[in-house]
Amino acid sequence: MAHPTPHPRTISPSGTLTGRVRVPGDKSISHRSLMFSALAVGTSTVTGLLEGEDVLATAAALRQMGASIARSDDAVWTIDGVGVGGLLQPASALDMGNSGTSTRLLMGLIASHPITATFIGDASLSKRPMGRVITPLTQMGADITASPGGRLPLMLRGLCPAVPIRYTLPVASAQVKSAVLLAGLNTPGITSVIEPVATRDHSERMLRGFGATVTVEAAAQGKIISITGEAELKPQHIVVPGDPSSAAFLVVAATIVPESDVVVENVGLNPTRAGLFTALRLMGASIEELDRREVGGEPVADLRVRHAALTGIEVPPDLAPSMIDEYPALFVAAAFATGRTIARGAEELRVKESDRIAAMAAALSAIGARVEEVEDGLLIDGTGGDPLPGDATIATHLDHRIAMSLSVAALNCRADVTLDDASPVATSYPAFFDQIAHLQGDAA
Ligand code: S3P
Repeated sequence: MAHPTPHPRTISPSGTLTGRVRVPGDKSISHRSLMFSALAVGTSTVTGLLEGEDVLATAAALRQMGASIARSDDAVWTIDGVGVGGLLQPASALDMGNSGTSTRLLMGLIASHPITATFIGDASLSKRPMGRVITPLTQMGADITASPGGRLPLMLRGLCPAVPIRYTLPVASAQVKSAVLLAGLNTPGITSVIEPVATRDHSERMLRGFGATVTVEAAAQGKIISITGEAELKPQHIVVPGDPSSAAFLVVAATIVPESDVVVENVGLNPTRAGLFTALRLMGASIEELDRREVGGEPVADLRVRHAALTGIEVPPDLAPSMIDEYPALFVAAAFATGRTIARGAEELRVKESDRIAAMAAALSAIGARVEEVEDGLLIDGTGGDPLPGDATIATHLDHRIAMSLSVAALNCRADVTLDDASPVATSYPAFFDQIAHLQGDAA
């Protein structure tokens, strides 16, 4: 799962992008579809699953704990679940690769099972804070021994029955919310999470779809999300919509490369995920929604994106949770806007696959953008649409979104840009470079 050998890649300035592409399945929904299917009693199927390394790490871990997971030649995944409470003791460490979502959600699942698991990951994941899930899961009775700073490798001994809690999220994190709710699945009684700031709600939506009792109340202190355990999950046939976080790169690419006109098909537009499109429209982007529909219980549309002149904005900080993974792409758009973009209130970016504030400040500066780093974001003075110089080698820090953002920026540079390591792209979007090439080919 780790990439001991870096794969450098050079990206050249691009002509117009045109044509249609279909983005891969949503990463968050893909992880959850495997996990919930693995806990259902019976056989579930999943189509449109993201077959990236992060999701495959989740599949491997679930197999190690007794679920049977198979893929047909036409990419239908079949999962025979073990039932809530039925996870088995894994015989070896769970290798989470680069994936924070796999780690935190599976920690939640295991916390209320009578099993012990060791979690390991790559150099990026081993730097990321797990204290945010260790705290509530310990309150529920799990016994967790982590590396210094609450990091991986760590060992988690679950407690069964665990103790239901009512937990107020100290950070806006769907992973922490989900970890507690998933621990609540096998915990007798009501486990509640209070969410002062709304984050992506795929766990709540999907758990309901699987038959769990999940309630959401609006209260003065925020949303109160409660799950009743012990739950019994019924198998489902899931269709995973396309990932707005992957679409983000193509939408920004088509926006900044002159004369582009691209349709990005099957983009999930759950309001807890679609903040980037709101921000880009505020900047003047041309993003048209075609054929709005529902896929797998989520709103979806095809996005027609045409090149547009952008104007710098102050990004509304309340958009942050709904575009948290998209700031790197937004920073690229801002680098080509007229005037200054102020993107603050995004301090969570410092604990993603890399410190994305520092990594993007360094990368954009290296290709010639004017960027000022502040504690909770970036201030970017754009070129007014002109290409950036490029001609730099970028440190991607084992972070797929840094690699893809700079690949997009490189399309509108005067000279080549080299990524020191493009391999992390495979964690979330293995087809990324091929799809960009397809859009360039159509233009020829
Ligand atoms: C995710 C939640 C977010 C996001 C991550 C996926 C999820 O993380 O950045 O890529 O699937 O729940 P946080 O919960 O740390 O904000």
